Amino acid sequence: MTISSIRRLRLVCLVSLAAGGMLACGGGPGDATGSTCPTDSALGYANFGAAFMQDHCLSCHRAGGPESPTLSTIEQIRANLQIIDRSAAAGPNAVNTYMPDGASVDEAERRKLGEWLACGAPE
Ligand code: HEC
Repeated sequence: MTISSIRRLRLVCLVSLAAGGMLACGGGPGDATGSTCPTDSALGYANFGAAFMQDHCLSCHRAGGPESPTLSTIEQIRANLQIIDRSAAAGPNAVNTYMPDGASVDEAERRKLGEWLACGAPE
């Protein structure tokens, strides 16, 4: 871990304390979002998940990339549903901003991620 990434984690920690203190403070995954899967959910890998991962995660979590877990395929995502939810998704119980490392994502997109994961990451 570099000095600058430690500084960044401290900043995240301060900001999350100021925001109410319940978010991941100290740079780890947060709580389960408690997201649920509406019966009419329209989110799939094809129309949401693949692009979300491509835009926000795969620069680091692709096959052969620098970070684990690899999230390049739907099977790899399904094998990591809970930890992805706790790292990057938003829902009634938590807004998790641990990932993507060093970048931001709209909360609305994080909520969609929570829903899609809660549905089991369907095609
Ligand atoms: C700029 C690089 C980068 C991007 C982009 C990124 N990550 Fe990460 N990710 C990391 C690093 C670095 C770690 C290891 C952090 C550590 O150990 O302190 C990590 C760890 C993780 C972990 C493991 C957490 C644990 O404690 O086991 C998950 C899950 C994860 N990332 C998911 C995601 C998701 C989902 C996205 C997209 C929303 C994403 N990451 C985007 C760099 C990145």
